[in-house]
Amino acid sequence: MKKILVTGGLGFIGSHTVVELQNSGFKVIIIDDLSNSKIEVLDNITEITGVKPEFYKLDLKIKSNVLDFFKNKKIDGVIHFAAFKAVGESVQNPLDYYENNIGSLVYLLQGMRDNNIDNLIFSSSCTVYGQSDELPITENAPIKTAESPYGNTKQIGEEIIKESCKAYAMNAIALRYFNPIGAHPSIKIGELPLGIPQNLIPYITQTAAGIRKELSIFGNDYETPDGTAIRDYIHVVDLAKAHIAALNRLLEKKNTKSFNFFNIGTGIGTSVLEIIKTFEKCTGVNLNYKFVAKREGDVTSAFASTKNANEQLDWKAEKSLEEALLSAWKWQQKSNNV
Ligand code: WQD
Repeated sequence: MKKILVTGGLGFIGSHTVVELQNSGFKVIIIDDLSNSKIEVLDNITEITGVKPEFYKLDLKIKSNVLDFFKNKKIDGVIHFAAFKAVGESVQNPLDYYENNIGSLVYLLQGMRDNNIDNLIFSSSCTVYGQSDELPITENAPIKTAESPYGNTKQIGEEIIKESCKAYAMNAIALRYFNPIGAHPSIKIGELPLGIPQNLIPYITQTAAGIRKELSIFGNDYETPDGTAIRDYIHVVDLAKAHIAALNRLLEKKNTKSFNFFNIGTGIGTSVLEIIKTFEKCTGVNLNYKFVAKREGDVTSAFASTKNANEQLDWKAEKSLEEALLSAWKWQQKSNNV
């Protein structure tokens, strides 16, 4: 049974990926520092799959933690989620972001190198493209100057991995996520934003639950059909399955280069107003909202060309936007997390 290390495995995307890994017959080890996740998620994963992953509470910013962890462990691959990911927060605290996101990546790669672990899946982001001139966004779109330290840590992270793959005969795939949303159909795991949600969907579900007074829509004068910004919202379970497809590609040694990367989205662009209307239609809940100024760093429109992922990973997003939004609402009602 292949053993896979998942860093940040109790987080939103990490936990859904652990479920799919265990459902696919992999043995899973999770490292998480619980800075942006809850230990209860471990039991929830166990309830869904019937298997309890091995768990280590470790801070990957501490080099000795990482190098000691790898000693005497036979690991076949690593999926690296652990990182800070709030765009606005990264502007306020850039050094925390560089220390955590870059420092822990370097130590993780050193641990992999020293223990001959040569398969890595890296959690990247469509923010590496900034506002692309071409839509849908292909993997050939130029990487632009990052709009935030968060986005910069993803760009730098990909460069570090690319160079490490060349130098140490490793193989890696970066998955450039668009906008992950929703919750597992069991409604036992989902998004757990701590504090005021930065992302649209958890803010919507907390507004619908009466936790927030109203949703502020950042900008209604974008050059889009209804004036609100467009994104590619992908069900988190579809995103999790993309990691299994990418991992199998590495384990079967099908990477065309030592470092490959793929856009992971639905290929469908949806505006903020369309999200609101779809949410209201599928939940029957009316949303209070108002228009406010644009948020700094936001792009007008971003949705993926999924051709490469569909053909080379043999993966395609299957769940609808309605299913994703309804699962997010059911998760909110169950967890009423604030
Ligand atoms: C979506 C749209 C906002 C909140 C970020 C990261 C990206 C990825 C996904 C990690 C935008 C609008 C939002 C609100 C609003 N994260 N909005 N009111 O910014 O596209 O991407 O999360 O990988 O890397 O950058 O997602 O959900 O914050 O915003 O109007 O209260 O909703 O302006 O148009 P974003 P988001």
